[in-house]
Amino acid sequence: MDSVKILICFTTLLFTYSQAATSPPSPSIILTPTPAPAPAPDYVNLTELLSVAGPFSTFLKYLESTKVIETLQNQANNTEEGLTLFVPQDKAFTSLKKPSLSNLTADQLKQLCLFHALPHYYSLSDFKNLSDAGPINTLAGGSYTLNFTDVTGTVRIGSGWTNTLVSSSVHSTDPVAIYQVNKVLLPEAIFGTDIPPPAPAPAPVPDIAPVADAPGAAADGGKGSAAKAKPSSSNKIVGWSVWRCLMMVVVSGGFMVFL
Ligand SMILES: *[C@@H]1O[C@H](CO)[C@@H](O)[C@H](O)[C@H]1NC(C)=O
Ligand SMILES: *[C@@H]1O[C@H](CO)[C@@H](O)[C@H](O)[C@H]1NC(C)=O
Ligand SMILES: *[C@@H]1O[C@H](CO)[C@@H](O)[C@H](O)[C@H]1NC(C)=O
Ligand SMILES: *[C@@H]1O[C@H](CO)[C@@H](O)[C@H](O)[C@H]1NC(C)=O
Ligand SMILES: *[C@@H]1O[C@H](CO)[C@@H](O)[C@H](O)[C@H]1NC(C)=O
Repeated sequence: MDSVKILICFTTLLFTYSQAATSPPSPSIILTPTPAPAPAPDYVNLTELLSVAGPFSTFLKYLESTKVIETLQNQANNTEEGLTLFVPQDKAFTSLKKPSLSNLTADQLKQLCLFHALPHYYSLSDFKNLSDAGPINTLAGGSYTLNFTDVTGTVRIGSGWTNTLVSSSVHSTDPVAIYQVNKVLLPEAIFGTDIPPPAPAPAPVPDIAPVADAPGAAADGGKGSAAKAKPSSSNKIVGWSVWRCLMMVVVSGGFMVFL
């Protein structure tokens, strides 16, 4: 009985071995699991991303001509810290009139580009922290800093010259965050601190001017020009009301003649 059992056992073993040796699906079983665990790379192609989204073609052109795109890609590829990039749309460049980018030196342009990047990945919710942290260093280094304020999830960026909104998130997966901003970020380190006040704010202008001009002579000069400006504007107002009054008389006169 035992020998029969052993024989059956042996023949089944032999049979299964020959089956396994000749069966063709075994190599494909070995091959299929290999590509599956291959890690999907975290690589974000910044050039590709910026050329698809936006339109950010003007900013991308500056990043490429200054080679800052390579610095940013390296920061994204090869650092633990990651990268946060603020990208202005094309229309932000076309609406940029007063401080123009046209006569910046190559180095200033490069700094301007780097000024749009932070050497760390920040999700949108992280900006609450930055809001209280004071000036934040950008990749441009030194005095090229940005101020952030987060009011109930609305993130504003201040550079002195520029006060703008983070208007949307283009990409936000650690280590790369890209946010759209409505304006080109202009650093004081390039354009100076002599920032013209916003046009539709006539009241704060005389308050700011004397503070900036410390010497008495300069302050007098400011007063003089202010004094000069006043009568001309009031003359205009007087002229206007006289003209309006005259028109009313003429119109009502005409009306009476017509009656
Ligand atoms: C990134 O994308 C750009 C534009 O699509 C392409 O020209 C470039 O070869 C890509 N770079 C890499 C490293 O894949
Ligand atoms: C970033 O990584 C991609 C993919 O690994 C590579 O092709 C590219 O050359 C890298 N670029 C830099 C600047 O490290
Ligand atoms: C750029 O040019 C304008 C006029 O062409 C000039 O007023 C301005 O000072 C120049 N800016 C710089 C940084 O050279
Ligand atoms: C934000 O602040 C909290 C508390 O101060 C801290 O625990 C957290 O690490 C900060 N996050 C970032 C991204 O700095
Ligand atoms: C940034 O904020 C600091 C105070 O935290 C302030 O002194 C500085 O003037 C601000 N800079 C700009 C460019 O708004």
